[in-house]
Amino acid sequence: MSAKSQEMATVAKAMVAPGKGILAADESFPSIKKRFDSIGTESTEETRRTYREMLVTAPGSQEFISGVIFFDETLRQATAKGERFVDVLARAGIIPGIKVDTGSKAMAGFPGEEVTEGLDGLRGRLEEYVRLGARFCKWRAVINIGAEVPTPAGIHANAHALARYAALCQEQGLIPMVEPEVMMEGDHGIERCYEVTVATLREVFHELAEQRVVFENMILKTNMVVPGKKCADQASPKRVAEMTIQALRTAVPASVAGVVFLSGGQKPEPSTAHLNLMNSMAVTHPWPLSFSYGRALQDSALKTWGGRAENLPAAQKAFLHRARLNGLATLGRYSESMEAAA
Ligand code: G3H
Repeated sequence: MSAKSQEMATVAKAMVAPGKGILAADESFPSIKKRFDSIGTESTEETRRTYREMLVTAPGSQEFISGVIFFDETLRQATAKGERFVDVLARAGIIPGIKVDTGSKAMAGFPGEEVTEGLDGLRGRLEEYVRLGARFCKWRAVINIGAEVPTPAGIHANAHALARYAALCQEQGLIPMVEPEVMMEGDHGIERCYEVTVATLREVFHELAEQRVVFENMILKTNMVVPGKKCADQASPKRVAEMTIQALRTAVPASVAGVVFLSGGQKPEPSTAHLNLMNSMAVTHPWPLSFSYGRALQDSALKTWGGRAENLPAAQKAFLHRARLNGLATLGRYSESMEAAA
């Protein structure tokens, strides 16, 4: 193994170290605006900076947080005292990451499907991100479920782009976090989500192999297998955990360095409970299973902050509480009774 490959394997392992997971703080401008609208706060460069400073400087977060995914603007920002966020994280032993896709757009000729853009000029952008201190990247593909979708062509286009992105990352010594997200929107049952998740993951790993991506030096970020939000038959947490594991065992090679979950619109408590159930099964899994939540890690902190400076310490406390519970869930040591201790 080359020195570069060895270093990458070390970073990948550290991203899914026991008891820790990843904070997704990479909301694009429209997404962060939506979050700030929910608390009646205007999204400006300064409010975004203030909010992200609260997350990045939460004291002791390195106990539960292994890495943070930034958005381009955030990777370049600094604390009010002038220390770059990347340096704050590095000092705490937290690994900085960056979202490098440029968003998903309607796929021409395939109504209801989307394809993620951002490959043009990616090599140059990655070179800059390495200089700025990023050690891993994220690219998210969106797979919608509907009567006629996804099609094999839709899944293929997204899987191919993910693989091209991942190969470019590894060329630069960056760990690719490969994120195919099967969406929760719709009234489909859990079996349909299972079927689409397995088909997507199989295609993604086929394309990754074609593009010579080294599985040991990548992280899979995926959805849990859950029924659609509007499905009348909501599954028990045990069923979600079991079907998610079944999907992963069916389609994810054992050599992948780690699997982290997105929350995807699940509330914070079930996101934690599902992860905990998966990590407390009698069988051992081939990969560490952890979290890379956005909303499920930030919701209570965002509401507690409410855009007010005097609430920043309380918001950090709320964030740390949620991070701790998710850290425990990676070890299978979370219980619902811990929720109250905020
Ligand atoms: O790409 C999705 C985000 O990184 C995770 O966000 O946990 O709110 O789905 P989420």
